[in-house]
Amino acid sequence: MKRIGIIGGSGYTGSELLRILTAHPKVEVVAVTSRKYEGKSIDEVLPFLKGFYDLKFVDPDVRNFDGCDLVFTAVPHGEAMNYVPELLDAGIKVVDLSADYRLSREVYERVYGEHKAYLEAVYGLPEVHGERVRKAELVANPGCYPTGCILSVYPLKDFIERVVFDCKSGITGAGAKPSDFTHYPNLHEAIVPYKVTNHRHVYEMIQELECSVSFTPQVYPGSRGILTVAHVFLKDEVKDNLNEKEIKKLYEKFYAEKPFVRLQESIRLSWVRGSNFCDISIKFDGERIVAISAIDNLVKGASGQAIQNMNLMLGFDEREGLFTPPLFP
Ligand SMILES: NC(=O)c1ccc[n+]([C@@H]2O[C@H](COP(=O)([O-])OP(=O)(O)OC[C@H]3O[C@@H](n4cnc5c(N)ncnc54)[C@H](OP(=O)(O)O)[C@@H]3O)[C@@H](O)[C@H]2O)c1
Repeated sequence: MKRIGIIGGSGYTGSELLRILTAHPKVEVVAVTSRKYEGKSIDEVLPFLKGFYDLKFVDPDVRNFDGCDLVFTAVPHGEAMNYVPELLDAGIKVVDLSADYRLSREVYERVYGEHKAYLEAVYGLPEVHGERVRKAELVANPGCYPTGCILSVYPLKDFIERVVFDCKSGITGAGAKPSDFTHYPNLHEAIVPYKVTNHRHVYEMIQELECSVSFTPQVYPGSRGILTVAHVFLKDEVKDNLNEKEIKKLYEKFYAEKPFVRLQESIRLSWVRGSNFCDISIKFDGERIVAISAIDNLVKGASGQAIQNMNLMLGFDEREGLFTPPLFP
């Protein structure tokens, strides 16, 4: 059994890591942190996990991870960088769920501010960078929106002139700490656009897709899920030479060996909930390709993808402990 640690185990992505890892046959979680709940048992803080762990939360001192093979850092951006270099120095592999290692230093500092401990990492989108993830010591798990957006159009990458992503996310995307924005009456029966032209996740999309990208995030009043509608405008030289059948063939070919991407005729968030799948459907009206994707933001958009990366980094099949059907209805 490989030994696993989690920094930030009491948050939404941390507790989702704990939930999914209960079913993993080849790893054991041996240390989980929370500063707020240090000394309390996992059962007490996360009653939905009662009966699965006999562990208490510890403080995030890196020495608590001695002997671990891999640690997940599931903490806010700007905080992961306080732990990652020390973990790597101790010979421990890291999957970081924050934004701290997803971008070049130059772009990170322009978008997020000063980086105190920059290191090169592999961008952990296994469908695109799987071979590099296998050899990586540090993997930067992608953002939730970028995962759904990039996967929805990646097979078209060489042909895209411009793409417009219109995304709707469940409220857990904002983390476990309540705020005015996430307060129930403020979101109930509402779909709320926010950071309409300036959400930081767009820089990951530009980095991976290398084309003109527009992105508008919205929150819908559900807990989990990101529905992305991508409006794709093709380069002139290919526009007249592609039809819907050929476009679908490109997707089938690209995702043929990718077990967590499913091509569907239509899309529902409820068909991926609780699972690591990214479902994608494609339509073409002659001018514009409409590629729609659905993910669970806490699974394929965060902790499931982080475990998929862990599987590759530890030499397991990427499906290990993850290939389970969604929760429906
Ligand atoms: N929610 C999503 O859908 C989603 C998707 C993709 C990526 N992410 C990214 O994943 C990371 C975690 O997100 P989340 O939604 O799980 O956040 P969250 O619910 O707010 O949880 C944050 C966790 O980090 C711990 N923490 C906070 N500051 C810390 C520090 N300085 N040192 C050590 N631990 C600290 C907190 O516990 P204590 O304060 O008790 O220590 C808590 O366990 C973020 O970077 C987020 O952007 C989130």
